[in-house]
Amino acid sequence: MKKPLCSFYLSLTPDLHQHLKQKLQRAYRVDISQDTLTTNNLNKNTEILGTFVDSKISKAVIKKLPKLRLIVSLSTGYDHIDLKAAKRRSITVCNVPSYGERTVAEFAVGLTLSLSRKLHKAVRRVKAGEFDYHGLRGFDLYEKTIGIIGTGKIGSNVIRMLQGFGAHIIAYDPFPNKALEKELHFTYVPLSKLWKTSDIISLHAPLTKKTHHLVNKKTISSMKSGVSIINTSRGGLISSEALLWGIESGIIEGAALDVLEQEDLLEDTFRLIEKKTCSPKEARICLMNNIIIDHPKTIVTPHLAFNSKEAVLRIIDTSIKNITSFTKGNPQNIVTL
Ligand code: NAI
Repeated sequence: MKKPLCSFYLSLTPDLHQHLKQKLQRAYRVDISQDTLTTNNLNKNTEILGTFVDSKISKAVIKKLPKLRLIVSLSTGYDHIDLKAAKRRSITVCNVPSYGERTVAEFAVGLTLSLSRKLHKAVRRVKAGEFDYHGLRGFDLYEKTIGIIGTGKIGSNVIRMLQGFGAHIIAYDPFPNKALEKELHFTYVPLSKLWKTSDIISLHAPLTKKTHHLVNKKTISSMKSGVSIINTSRGGLISSEALLWGIESGIIEGAALDVLEQEDLLEDTFRLIEKKTCSPKEARICLMNNIIIDHPKTIVTPHLAFNSKEAVLRIIDTSIKNITSFTKGNPQNIVTL
């Protein structure tokens, strides 16, 4: 019998491609592309599809893959997959529910410190040959109020790590974990209070209809003047336009963003606008993003909070297990609507 075709669209180092291939090639035909998946580079014989979050698995992609039986997302978040379209075709979707809650939390704390001590500006200055600290005064985290939105796996680890700085931690989650609150000595507060009283706000909630543009002009208006915002969750939680307004109006002192609204369009902004293949609204968000990236009060990183050696290996190994257990008729880590 012909082995099922597993197509991966993953930009990984050659050793990790090799690792993936070695583990699967006995039972599967393995095809790995460094590119993100589009309707133009898919293989219509694909039965199992593996991608990172940078590949949009849309209705159009699914339609062009008539043999597709399994989508394996090499990530925790799965908002890049059209789950409805997958369900209609009875395609199973799996994710990696946990691989790096500490990994992402460490990155979020790193971004917090980079903002609070202006590391992004300091490094640039010294590299330009200017060894001078004037104008680079930061602030301590000690006794600051830090608001955490979403106290799941990542948010709770951020809280655990920040406790070491002697900060006051407050949090909002629609499903508060009272045992965690007691264990980690933080306090759940209503969202309105979190906006009003936090010196730093760190986002760790998934992107859903409810969290889309959670940070908007109205919520920014209610924030403490001089607030810093950290986002390692999903770009869609923050309206880029509102963020820029918040920075320019002086309410937001700094923003450190590992994710951006519509980040998938970012690389090709000008090509897309020229070709008129994105809507005016999308073009506007892309332009806002470009201004945010260049802004002196921001740090923007390319969605890499997950990207430590240890975490990536855990992602790949769990994804391999997702594929082999599905084939054995015992699927694991299934994602549903
Ligand atoms: P999780 O599912 O363990 O925790 C999410 C928490 O958010 C839950 O406690 C949930 O109740 C809460 N939540 C749901 N709706 C909310 C709302 N409206 N307001 C506030 N909280 C809400 O997820 P985990 O593992 O902590 O990941 C959080 C997010 O981080 C993921 O959804 C993903 O989008 C993002 N992520 C980003 C990575 C990166 O590389 N930048 C890597 C991994 C995850």
